Amino acid sequence: MMTPASKKTPCLGTIAALSLICSVLPYFLYFEPPSAGCPFTTTLAQKENNESVTSNEKPIVLLWFWPLGVKFDFKDCSTHFNIDSCVLTDDRSLYSKAQGVIFFHRDIDWNLRNMPQAPRPAFQKWIWFHVESPTNTATIPGLDNLFNLTLSYRRDADITVRNELTIRDSETKDDFVLPKKDKVVCWIVSNNNPATGTAVRDKYYHELSKYIKIHVFGAAFGHRLKYEDYYSTIGSCKFYLSFENSIHRDYITEKVNGPLVAGTVPVVLGPPRENYHQFLPSDAFIHINDFPDAKSLAEFLLLLNRTDEAYMRYFEWRKFYTATPHLLSMKNEFIQPICLACDHISRDEDFHVVHDLYKWYSS
Ligand SMILES: *[C@@H]1O[C@H](CO)[C@@H](O)[C@H](O)[C@H]1NC(C)=O
Ligand SMILES: *[C@@H]1O[C@H](CO)[C@@H](O)[C@H](O)[C@H]1NC(C)=O
Repeated sequence: MMTPASKKTPCLGTIAALSLICSVLPYFLYFEPPSAGCPFTTTLAQKENNESVTSNEKPIVLLWFWPLGVKFDFKDCSTHFNIDSCVLTDDRSLYSKAQGVIFFHRDIDWNLRNMPQAPRPAFQKWIWFHVESPTNTATIPGLDNLFNLTLSYRRDADITVRNELTIRDSETKDDFVLPKKDKVVCWIVSNNNPATGTAVRDKYYHELSKYIKIHVFGAAFGHRLKYEDYYSTIGSCKFYLSFENSIHRDYITEKVNGPLVAGTVPVVLGPPRENYHQFLPSDAFIHINDFPDAKSLAEFLLLLNRTDEAYMRYFEWRKFYTATPHLLSMKNEFIQPICLACDHISRDEDFHVVHDLYKWYSS
């Protein structure tokens, strides 16, 4: 297994790494190694400070491509996520000053011709930004040993982007009221292109729909929902099919967060239950693997539909955790990761190299 980049600080790292850093860096940075403390971190921190202090206290983080060409306002980081620790910019003329440069994987040219051509300053970190599953990841050549940090949904990424439950502080009461339900099972699906790995969930959906009515919404069924109707539509159903488009470790997306926020029980299709337990309480969802087949799952859902007390047990977790609504729309999908990268760069003084990018990502 490859480490995408060492999480250890150089001080805690291996002697080999430390001696390499100590012997190589001073030449690049033109600094005397400080006599005490951690030589690398101190040197880099000072260098970084001196670089950025000139115009601004905060590090510059350059967004090299607008993801899929979709623009948003960088101020959203402070408005939505309370992150204001870097200067985000799309101005490529600031390249040589930027401490972090974010590259959205899907926008990288096959021949890397749209990547920076100027040399990379020694203090600068390149951030690989990708949130699709490995099934939907093009293997662009030349990306190994190119990036310094990974920004992805994976738990072992350097910067992890997820919709996480937060622990409810004991002061705040759970004022949860179950939304009015007039449907049993719902599914919103925008993509059913089999090339993206959706065959497994399609097959399961067809099988399940033989035994229980499924209310379908979304572009794939010619019934696109307005963003403002997303949470209320999910809330009006007792169960929601949180079927991932492809099955990979940690690939547990906003498809689960939506029903948790809306007050609906997610029925998940994705990695094994144990992987979900790393993110969610075990009684917050139903896993299709809990049942031998779609027919028994349908019977169970119908049983819960008739037994309020058993159904309500799926909301017990709310006493301890809070689900946070995710921003809807394609544009908003990219804001949070970029804000997190900004925050990370403002704190991270370590040296990283991402060696085997694809080997790691597909593992
Ligand atoms: C950073 O800049 C200050 C003021 O210009 C200077 O005194 C200091 O030596 C610099 N630090 C390093 C590590 O070069
Ligand atoms: C970033 O990664 C490159 C290799 O792609 C490496 O040469 C450089 O030293 C790294 N920089 C930092 C600050 O980690």
